[in-house]
Amino acid sequence: MATTPVPGGPGHPGHANDRADRAARNGGRPTLAFDRAAPYVDYGAIDTLLSLQRPRTAEPAETSFIIATQVMELLFTLIRQHWEAARDALDADDVPAALAGLRRAIYAQDVLVSSWDLVATLTPTEFGRFRDALGEASGFQSYTYRHLEFLLGNKSAALIGPHRAAPQVRADLERALAAPGLYDAALRLLHRRGYPVPAGQVERDWSRPYSAHPGVERAWAEVYADDRPGNTLLALAEALLDTAERVTRWRHRHLMAVKRSMGAKPGTGGSSGLEWLAKNTEQDVFPELWSLRTGI
Ligand code: HEM
Repeated sequence: MATTPVPGGPGHPGHANDRADRAARNGGRPTLAFDRAAPYVDYGAIDTLLSLQRPRTAEPAETSFIIATQVMELLFTLIRQHWEAARDALDADDVPAALAGLRRAIYAQDVLVSSWDLVATLTPTEFGRFRDALGEASGFQSYTYRHLEFLLGNKSAALIGPHRAAPQVRADLERALAAPGLYDAALRLLHRRGYPVPAGQVERDWSRPYSAHPGVERAWAEVYADDRPGNTLLALAEALLDTAERVTRWRHRHLMAVKRSMGAKPGTGGSSGLEWLAKNTEQDVFPELWSLRTGI
């Protein structure tokens, strides 16, 4: 009786033995004919992906704007996945796994920051030709971005507001609001390892935004006091700082893109625009990792 090949197993076109046979049959050249859509198109859902850029005006720069938005949404999602994995690894006292997750996210953050190049040439005139088509749409309403902010400790129940009418999105954000973030998990790990993290930073109402504490700075200062290469907690602190710096770089490039493309006009999302964004950009991420440096 014929059996259906298991995906990835022998007999499946993706299996290593079959790939070697096929390459030999092809004389080393790629396969040129399929009796269905090319498997790449199917696997990557490419037809669906390419059907999702729907400019609302005839302004060509609108396509760059839409693609920049979509690329960043995908990267927000990927970074969230890596940060959650890093947070869970810290909870499990697995610092090497946390470092691996942060490192993967750091590379993705670099791509994210570079994505601003996609809209770097947008002029106020070009933007003006499609800005009205956005209506009240604003990146401020991105729930994937909000997840990242929550993981960074910038908690706010009010900012779940735009998703009131989307029950699943709202429930997911409410769970994230109530859970410790990445930095909280790092501080809890330091505490378990005997560093003097104040009790109020180890157990607290996680739905409140993180605020800096001199006791946390002292705890990190103890970590920095041992800079031998084997100190994995120092490596963790530096990876968190790499993460923090890239968050600020993204915010700063956003601010510059806004300043270039629309100056100080109010935002489509209802804020004052530049002024509101500048305040967020100024906020240090993981503040004690920055402030402790003055004392070293
Ligand atoms: C160059 C074009 C852009 C302009 C002029 C612009 C403008 C703004 C403004 C004024 C705000 C403040 C909220 C508001 O009133 O709308 C904002 C927020 C935001 N924008 Fe953009 N934006 C641009 C491109 C993008 C892109 C491509 C993304 C990628 C998804 C993005 C993501 C965000 C996010 C996540 C926020 C919320 C930031 C926070 O909560 O701190 N923006 N944007």
